[in-house]
Amino acid sequence: MREFQPKTIIEPFRIRSVEPIHFTTMEEREAALKAAGYNPFLLRAENVLIDLLTDSGTGAMSSRQWAGMIASDESYAGASSFYRFESAIRDITGFKHVIPAHQGRAAEHILFTTIAQAGDVIPSNTHFDTTRAHVEHTGAEARDLVIAEGRQPQLILPFKGNMDVAALEATIAEVGRERIPAIMLTVTNNSGGGQPVSMANVRAVSAVAHKHGIPFYIDSCRFAENAWFIKTREEGYVDKSPTEIAREMFSYADGCTMSAKKDGMANIGGFLAVNDDALAANCRNLEILTEGFPTYGGMAGYDLEAIAQGLYEALDPHYLRYRIRSIAYLGDRLTAAGVSIVQPTGGHAVYLDARAMLPHLTPLQYPAWSLCNALYLVGGVRGVEIGTVMFGRQPDGSEAPAAMDLVRLAFPRRTYTQSHVDYLAEVILEVFAQRSSLPGYRIVQQAPVLRHFTIQMEPLPA
Ligand code: F0G
Repeated sequence: MREFQPKTIIEPFRIRSVEPIHFTTMEEREAALKAAGYNPFLLRAENVLIDLLTDSGTGAMSSRQWAGMIASDESYAGASSFYRFESAIRDITGFKHVIPAHQGRAAEHILFTTIAQAGDVIPSNTHFDTTRAHVEHTGAEARDLVIAEGRQPQLILPFKGNMDVAALEATIAEVGRERIPAIMLTVTNNSGGGQPVSMANVRAVSAVAHKHGIPFYIDSCRFAENAWFIKTREEGYVDKSPTEIAREMFSYADGCTMSAKKDGMANIGGFLAVNDDALAANCRNLEILTEGFPTYGGMAGYDLEAIAQGLYEALDPHYLRYRIRSIAYLGDRLTAAGVSIVQPTGGHAVYLDARAMLPHLTPLQYPAWSLCNALYLVGGVRGVEIGTVMFGRQPDGSEAPAAMDLVRLAFPRRTYTQSHVDYLAEVILEVFAQRSSLPGYRIVQQAPVLRHFTIQMEPLPA
């Protein structure tokens, strides 16, 4: 018989433990949203049917991860769980020193507090919010140098997360090598739509950094998803395994920060990994102050076990094919129906272009907030606004439109099945059909910084 080549990409797991999801009526959702000040962050999760707020720490763990957790070593110092964690990270990244941290931003805090100071500049393709905040907390400037194409939502290119290498050279010439303590690359580029970075770009950024003697770090939260895009889109990588690709990617860097809540397949955790002995010693000293002893760093032994196993599971080609395809599948269905999304779909989320969908609303009527709330009211789906509510408040307190008004629908790992995605497409298309009646919003109450988490809103009268 000939080898069967199925077209259907199936979930590469079967389900042995299930968690009920809660159905609500439209009336109940209206009441819940009103009580939450029309802010989906303030909903109780039990009132959400499909929760796409984030892919961070929300995934399902495997039976092997749970087995490791049961067998964990909870010793304060030198636990065997730490050595399994360290050896997995060394095996995949090749970095010498592994410094555990309770999540990604804790690793960022340790790194930037140790290396950066006021007046410095830290270039990246796009800094994630917490990375930017930690850089700025030291008084340094976080500078985004993604390629110009990466800022155009409708443009289809294989590696829209790449850094503009000429702009990097220009930045070094402008500010001087001594004021640049590090160059970073975020893979995949979360704030730019989950778009991947090519190996050629990693190599080019590394070459520029090292020519000037500047350390180069990778924000590696979604390193496995990025490796899959390299395998399937970049010449010369189709026959390489995601693990080999990840190793090559890390080989060009001097270290990485990691939120293990993404491609660590864990519910909590992270790490900083570096090659430099003196830097590692300084980082560990700070770690003891803020995270804990360097062999647990703010995590339980069982968290270390979950990550040691999860990092390998994230690199499984069957998993990655299913993961990237489930997101593209939703993107394809929406695009076919005429819904504007950020193209092409990235590694962890679909981003709806609310400004294109709701032309009757001005950016200061917060179209992405309106779309996000409509998805909840119609179908119990929770996404997150990435737009003018998140970025529109200026330092002087005035309002300005953000560059884009998007709704991010981030997929928790191994959590929802294809029928959930079919349901999602139906909900989005129903909202799309009713789009001209969606209301604008106004702000009722807000905090001075990071206001989107707690903001109170109100729909404008029709
Ligand atoms: N870097 C990137 C690229 C991220 O996406 C995140 C988190 C972090 C760093 C910080 O990691 O949350 O473990 O402290 N992103 C989540 C999200 C919160 O929803 O995109 P953390």
